[in-house]
Amino acid sequence: MTMLDSNPRWIALQVILKLVDRGRSLDDTFASEWFQTLPLSKRDQAMSRELSIGLCRWYFILQPLLNQRLQKPLRARDQDVEIILLLGLYQLLVMETDAHAAVNETVKLTRLLKKNWASGLTNAVLRKVVRDDLRWQEIDRVMAYPEWMQQLIRDEWGDLSQQIMVAGNQRPPMTLRIDSRQQSRDDYLKQLESKQIEASAHELISTAVQLKTPVEVAALPGFDRGLVSVQDAAAQIAAELLQCEPGNRVLDACAAPGGKSSQLLQQYADIHLDALDISETRLDRVRENLQRIGKPARLLVGDAAVPEQWFDGKRYDRVLVDTPCSASGVMRRHPDIKLLRRESDIMSLASRQRDILDAIWPLLKPGGMMLYSTCSIFKNENEKQIAGFLQSNVNAEEIGLSSFNWGNACVHGRQILPGESNMDGFYYALLRKSGLD
Ligand SMILES: C[S@@+](CC[C@H](N)C(=O)[O-])C[C@H]1O[C@@H](n2cnc3c(N)ncnc32)[C@H](O)[C@@H]1O
Repeated sequence: MTMLDSNPRWIALQVILKLVDRGRSLDDTFASEWFQTLPLSKRDQAMSRELSIGLCRWYFILQPLLNQRLQKPLRARDQDVEIILLLGLYQLLVMETDAHAAVNETVKLTRLLKKNWASGLTNAVLRKVVRDDLRWQEIDRVMAYPEWMQQLIRDEWGDLSQQIMVAGNQRPPMTLRIDSRQQSRDDYLKQLESKQIEASAHELISTAVQLKTPVEVAALPGFDRGLVSVQDAAAQIAAELLQCEPGNRVLDACAAPGGKSSQLLQQYADIHLDALDISETRLDRVRENLQRIGKPARLLVGDAAVPEQWFDGKRYDRVLVDTPCSASGVMRRHPDIKLLRRESDIMSLASRQRDILDAIWPLLKPGGMMLYSTCSIFKNENEKQIAGFLQSNVNAEEIGLSSFNWGNACVHGRQILPGESNMDGFYYALLRKSGLD
């Protein structure tokens, strides 16, 4: 531990360096022991998060603004200096930090890096930004995405691409799922009101409540007893779609952190759930969540694409395949996706998803149902994935979702676009296995 560890701007720099150098997501870094044990006050911890999340959200707007003010581009080995400058820009333009403090604190970071040559540069560039008197509200910020992603969104969504990109730049709402077996949504809204937590019922999803301002979960009445869970409204659709029946054997094939497993267990009292995940550490999150709601499930560590590792030979009545995906539908919640994803990831993710579908399908009983879901908006992971799967599995039949009032009908399945009814972007397709095996 050093003095630097109590400087929130320095910590934000380290968080972003872990992201760009090692591909470490913000969530993983924030949950890490390193971050959790830093000697930061609550306020400074919140500031380092705000700086890191905000910089990712606006990176593709701030970077050109910076480049226009540099006489020559920085060398690759001075990426740390570039991030410091971008953090400075973020403070000046987005956070509207007092200019004097923002410039001084940012210049200080270059000294801490022991790159004294960068102090003059940082000072000059940030002072120029102040002199230019840029107004954040007047800057066109829609295209805050890497070039390839903008192109793909435009190619796939045409007229809707602008709306998708605007929504993906917003700060996400905190949405709760009420366990309606324990209390009604109206009753829970009253409980929130009595704690001065402003909230409203979601317009489409009957179990969802949206908070006006995010709060710590500990402040939510009954959270520790599983009365409510934090879950976006779009994710809350899964359990209803799966239509479990008493006694069903159910597999959640990509279960961690357990949002949908928890919901299945709360909504359907008499099911036997296997919650599988490839990551043992992430499965710990499922364990914690199920403990909190007081519901049992069998937790399995293994690769869904390799059932020999974990399958006991008893087939399932229902399967949820909530696959790893590009997370392009949840960039408002995870803006680091904008920096982490590469164009080539989409096809390699699609091929992983197909491997999982192919391996899981034989584990479903004839007459059983499989729900496929992603938090992606890209068609290769969604409707094209399902089209390919249906083509090579004659015993798979699609169950239409046209009677629902959320999202948009696709060639196969249904897509919620980011921001629609203030939901995350999500895709669902429901398949039934015919009597044939
Ligand atoms: C989208 S998240 C699932 C979210 C979860 N269903 C929920 O509602 O909380 C995808 C999960 O799949 C897991 N995963 C990735 N590849 C996998 C594989 N081959 N087999 C099983 N799980 C996998 C990841 O560790 C991650 O926890």
